Amino acid sequence: MKRVLVAGAGGHLGRHVVAELSARGHRARALVRDPGKRDLAGAEEVVAADLSDPEAPLAEALEGVDVVFSAAGQSCTMQRAVERASFRDVDLPINRALLAAARAAGVQRFAYVAVLGGERLRHLDYVAAHEDFVGELAASGLDRTVIRANGFFYSYLDMLQAIRRGPAILFGDGSARSNPIHEADLAVACVEAIERGLEEVDVGGPETLTRREEAELAFAAIGKKPRLIRLPAPLLGAAVRLLRPRDRRRAEMLEFIAAIGRTDMLAPAHGERRLGEYLESS
Ligand SMILES: NC(=O)c1ccc[n+]([C@@H]2O[C@H](COP(=O)([O-])OP(=O)(O)OC[C@H]3O[C@@H](n4cnc5c(N)ncnc54)[C@H](OP(=O)(O)O)[C@@H]3O)[C@@H](O)[C@H]2O)c1
Repeated sequence: MKRVLVAGAGGHLGRHVVAELSARGHRARALVRDPGKRDLAGAEEVVAADLSDPEAPLAEALEGVDVVFSAAGQSCTMQRAVERASFRDVDLPINRALLAAARAAGVQRFAYVAVLGGERLRHLDYVAAHEDFVGELAASGLDRTVIRANGFFYSYLDMLQAIRRGPAILFGDGSARSNPIHEADLAVACVEAIERGLEEVDVGGPETLTRREEAELAFAAIGKKPRLIRLPAPLLGAAVRLLRPRDRRRAEMLEFIAAIGRTDMLAPAHGERRLGEYLESS
């Protein structure tokens, strides 16, 4: 049984990790910015801390902690959000602060969620922000568990919203394959990786789909005839250039989504939940 501090515990993945830790008999301490805001089922304790605040009470948050699990970072949604800074400017400093505090507190292991295909896709700002932290974690001397995850199911809700108004956009010919994963299934894989002391693990879901099939599932979920269009590369480039100075976060995310729309994103399969059923129930 371990005491685990979960950073990003109110997020899409973090809340499932808290529940999974508790279901397996671990003691989950949830670190959140606003404890009043979220359902934190399974958390034994909740600590409020903003990791970007140099005065954050991290020493207290880490007292008696064996393992830190961090899913803390910028939101990945393509919806407008308050935060517009780059992933590097947000994710890197907050995880760096947590890592420094974890070392000072004598934590044994630091687990971190990065992006599948990290090395191959490092030219993308979103991916590089995660990989740079992975490099710092590896150099820290702490035991590490790096989980490189494929797309989370909730990320497909952006597509569901978009196709209610218009066509689905393909960034390639639609044949690139992926095996996305439900956040609850990913949480199981994360906790197992920590329990087994794995250093690095790639995690995807149980079902491989092409980008065209994913879009078709989304149309089926809303009972609409599929309509797909392909966005030419120069138009995509123009969209990213326009967005970048106004909303760096969404520009980086758009670049990432476009890149993975043209290349296979496949990882060892975990879990049982299927994308079509998830979209239908959303
Ligand atoms: N979504 C995907 O498809 C995908 C795929 C692969 C990897 N990832 C990565 O996996 C990680 C988790 O993703 P997710 O979708 O679960 O993210 P999420 O739902 O946006 O959750 C991120 C969490 O980080 C917290 N956070 C942000 N800034 C913070 C700060 N200054 N201090 C304390 N907490 C802070 C947020 O707290 P609040 O609740 O207070 O906002 C939020 O709970 C991210 O690094 C993401 O890039 C995502």
